[in-house]
Amino acid sequence: MIYSGKHLVTGDGKTYIQESALCVDAEGLILEVGKTEDLQAKYPDESVKGEKGSLMEQDFQITKWCHRFIREQIKAGDICVDATAGNGHDTELLCELAGSRGKVYAFDIQDAALMHTRKRLEEKGYKAELILAGHETMRQYVTEAGAVSCIVFNFGYLPGGDHRLATHADTSIQAIKEGLELLKLGGMISLCIYSGGDSGFEEQEAVLNYIAKLDSKNFLVIVSQYYNRPNNPPIPALIIKR
Ligand SMILES: C[S@@+](CC[C@H](N)C(=O)[O-])C[C@H]1O[C@@H](n2cnc3c(N)ncnc32)[C@H](O)[C@@H]1O
Repeated sequence: MIYSGKHLVTGDGKTYIQESALCVDAEGLILEVGKTEDLQAKYPDESVKGEKGSLMEQDFQITKWCHRFIREQIKAGDICVDATAGNGHDTELLCELAGSRGKVYAFDIQDAALMHTRKRLEEKGYKAELILAGHETMRQYVTEAGAVSCIVFNFGYLPGGDHRLATHADTSIQAIKEGLELLKLGGMISLCIYSGGDSGFEEQEAVLNYIAKLDSKNFLVIVSQYYNRPNNPPIPALIIKR
């Protein structure tokens, strides 16, 4: 990971301002200090982080929005769960943040999804426990109850896959329930909730109703909205255990 000293914005592969930068590995060890542009060329597989530019330069797509909070949440050595592995983008982020001392579980009901995820992780040299099972059974596989830092749900269907194999209200709610039990105090669940199209509204309504009723003494629930966007925009939500 490369941290810039100043005003660095990437994410789309562009570096807008080059400043002196600190380059650290996934464990947080300092590799070297130098010019951002030099370090990015030398460590092409590392992501670049830094002070943000203006909000106009940020990506507000739902998964990127959730990734901001996930990045703040996960520390090296953490235990994390990707409840919907799909093409593995979220699993990859969890592996990057938890580092080699951490542990990442990733669930999906489709072989194809786990194959895509495995390939993505292999390309980056990351390791995760990939589990071909519904996330509603996650407590059977994740042995560290009460110690999990972050669980990520990105509901819906596998992009480019069979839309009929999408997540469903009943199993999604059971999975959130199990996830809440696995979380440590201060642990977080991130949810990308979709509606309309193939998924209809049933799952979104059911998930929102369920998380609205969580006891506020034990859980902080934050739901965001793309307030003026037409056509049933997705809803990002966070649950934090306290
Ligand atoms: C929108 S995709 C996830 C995208 C993924 N997080 C990524 O980064 O590419 C939703 C995934 O949930 C999976 N899924 C559906 N029902 C599931 C269940 N009960 N348990 C686990 N995964 C499920 C689908 O097979 C699909 O791959």
